[in-house]
Order: sequence, then structure tokens, then C-alpha cells
Amino acid sequence: MKSKLNNKVGWTIISYDQNEFPFDKIIEKKILEFLNREHGSRIDRLEDLHLDKLVIQNLEIIRQKMFSIFREEEFQNCYKLFGKFLMDTCLNKSALIQKTPTARIQPPCFTTTSFHSDAWYGHSRSTNSFWVPITNLTSNNTLNMAPSRESSEITMNKLLKGNYSLNEINDICANTTYPSIVKKGQILSFSPDMIHGAKMNTSDSTRVSFDFRIVNSDNDLGYKPISNYYRYSDLTRDEKETKNTNKLKKTTDGFLLYSNKCLGVNPKSQLMLCTSVAKDKNLVIQRNESEIYVFDYLPVLRHYLGSDTPTFDGVIVFSLGIFNGQKDLAEKILNLAKQNCKKILFAAEDILFTHRTDNSVILNKLGN
Ligand SMILES: [Fe+2]
Repeated sequence: MKSKLNNKVGWTIISYDQNEFPFDKIIEKKILEFLNREHGSRIDRLEDLHLDKLVIQNLEIIRQKMFSIFREEEFQNCYKLFGKFLMDTCLNKSALIQKTPTARIQPPCFTTTSFHSDAWYGHSRSTNSFWVPITNLTSNNTLNMAPSRESSEITMNKLLKGNYSLNEINDICANTTYPSIVKKGQILSFSPDMIHGAKMNTSDSTRVSFDFRIVNSDNDLGYKPISNYYRYSDLTRDEKETKNTNKLKKTTDGFLLYSNKCLGVNPKSQLMLCTSVAKDKNLVIQRNESEIYVFDYLPVLRHYLGSDTPTFDGVIVFSLGIFNGQKDLAEKILNLAKQNCKKILFAAEDILFTHRTDNSVILNKLGN
């Protein structure tokens, strides 16, 4: 990794231009408008969120509101340019950035998640986390971080040797980490092996921040689907190009959302996952259809992958389980899709099968 990140120490503070990336203004304005509309709240800065009792009672609703702001165009436009800025200055163009960051709100006297290193939760060695405060911080409401990789490793070895309870793990980590002095307009980046966490907020100010991860390349995604991430090219595609792509899309009907008795998963759950993955990939859904259960050869699926429905782009299915382990059946369906240039999105496995995909990619996963 070409890097301005301090991999030896394990953490780095990066400054950015708040006029170019006005995250604090975008989020503050929308949250305060939301609170005023929903609760008649008159708070005028995020640091004071805790002064309104209703805010404290509805903290999770406000955090979810933050997530919805993250998905809106105004934030996304700013965030994508920010991702490009980080890849250009600290990482490289093969990196991938999480599409939607995670929102955090910590009012005074509140604690948050236990101390941990991101590696404990399965993030690969090449994953870097980026923590962005959007309120002013003090040492009493900021993130605490191990001072170095070496120190984090010493703590980790101590934890591995003991049989500690979660409270004890938390206490040991809290005593071996220090408050990070990060200001608005700065980001704290850190490696996955760095122990970090927040102690109880003992200041008189609410902390609001968001964080996200960047991985080195496609090979470092671990268990996370690629649809959760933007590539460098997604960050730089200009609006004109996006509009042209959308115009082209309108010449087709989009995708069929399909369910069958796949693995015994109920159709509603199948469609929920399919809808969510389709949304991530910007696939247009035209309609839903269920398979006719009495016919094992999947006639409904064949209809929408066949030549009778030429304006359909393809079909979104729950998983490879739709083939019930039958390789012959799968091969016939895949070949039919290829003949008609239709795509199949297998949502659970996050595989988009196209006419260019080798059938073995699917067949090898069906067992013997
Ligand atoms: Fe973390």
C-alpha cells in the first residue's frame, strides 16, 4: 500500500478541507431540521443533543436518521469525493471503500460498545478504519486508542493468556489506551489490530461521529460482499455518465425477482434479501414471481431467462439453493440465460452470472 498511513505506529491523523467536505454541516442541518419537525426541538448544535429529553429517549431513531442521511445524494456526493481524496493521498486506486458509513452518537454519561480491535470481528489485515468526528471533542468524549501497534499486541497477548470476563477485558483495554486528540476537520485512521473504544462520556457535550472501512483490494473483503463497497471508478464516475447509464437502463424492463422453495427459506425472506442486494447494485426490479412448486424443472424461471421475455435483463434469485443441488438442471438454466444474454443475480452468494461467466463458477459450488 502506497501510504501516508503510519503502519508502524498503527494510527494516523489526516486533515481534510471542511469547505470541500462539509460533513458536519450536511449532517447537523438535516438532524436539527428532523428534530425540530418531529419533536419541536430548538437545539441549534449537535453537541447539545442531550439537552432535549426526547432526543435521549429516541437516540436509536436519531441514529437511524443519520443512516438515512448517509444514503441521500447530498451526503453520498461528498462522501464519494472524500473516498477518492483518501485513495489518492493515502492509499491506492485498487482500494474499495464501504458504501454507507456507521453512525455513532454518545451523549454525556453514556457508554458505547466494548473495547476491541476490528480484527476480533474478522476484518482482514489490510483493512483500515477511518473515524470522523463531526462535533468538537475533548479528551473526555473522544475515542481511546492504544498508543502503538506494539502496545496493542502486548495487551492482546495478556488477554489471550487470561480467562477474562468481558468487564475485565474492557477494564484492561481502557487502562492501556489513551484519548485520541482529533479535531473536526481531521480523521483518525487505524489498523485492524489496534485496540480502541470509548469510555463513558464524562464531558458535558454529545459526541457525534461516523466511521467506515477501506480495504486494499477485492482479495481483502473477507466475508463482506463486494456490493457493500465502492471501487475507485465508482467514486470518479461523473453525473453525465451516470445519467447516460440510467437512460440506457430505461430501454429495458429490468429484473424479475424470483422465489422458489429454495432451502426451505420462506419467500418473504428470500425477497427481502433479493431486494436489498438489488438496491445496492442499482438493479431495477420490474416484478415478482414465484415458481410453480409442482414442476421441478423450474418453468417460471425458464420463461424469464428465455426468448419469450426479451426485454427482461434477467432474474434475481435468493441463492444457489434454487437448483436444489441438481447440477444438470443448473447447467441447462445457465446455458439458457447465456443464449438469451440474460443475467442471474444470486443474492446470498453475491454472484452476478452473465454470458461471460464460466458455468463452473456456479456448478463447482453445487457439490457432487
Ligand atoms: Fe472498531
